[in-house]
Amino acid sequence: MRSAVPGTVTMPRRAERVAPATSPVPRGSLAWSPPRLLALATRYGLQVRPWAQFSALPAGERRYERLERTVDYEVWVIHWSTDGGLALHDHGGSSGAFHVVCGALDETSTTRLGRHLDRRRLVRSEGKSFGPDYVHSVVNLDEKVATSVHAYAPPLTWVNFYSTSATGLVPSRVETHWTGAP
Ligand SMILES: [Fe+2]
Repeated sequence: MRSAVPGTVTMPRRAERVAPATSPVPRGSLAWSPPRLLALATRYGLQVRPWAQFSALPAGERRYERLERTVDYEVWVIHWSTDGGLALHDHGGSSGAFHVVCGALDETSTTRLGRHLDRRRLVRSEGKSFGPDYVHSVVNLDEKVATSVHAYAPPLTWVNFYSTSATGLVPSRVETHWTGAP
């Protein structure tokens, strides 16, 4: 992931490997429930600037910036260009939420053991929260760059990606992210 704008960093990637034999155990956060994370993302959403204020963002790409990280949670802003998205993934057992600051995001969601995919479009000022078992893909299908704020508790340590089959989700790979200093 490129970082073209000062102050905008990529999500550090420590390693990439095939999916583990066993799925991560959902852990979530007792202190930071999904609704509380959505309130946090929404609050940050009032402060971040949409990407359009910086420069053009090449189609199919995204930009990240981590806004805050504590031992309990972390908050990211993500800018999504046209066709910019992330394939079906979980959050390594973290709960999460996201708030759309501008533009629109199309989400497809299920759970790790789910066999039905739900689809929805979230537009400006809308948001979604989810528990540790949640699996989704997110993409910007509009021509305008979308900006959203995402909160996770505990902070992300890995993300499992999935493909779909007739019998449900099939783990495809896992990405382990740098957790940094609290
Ligand atoms: Fe996600």
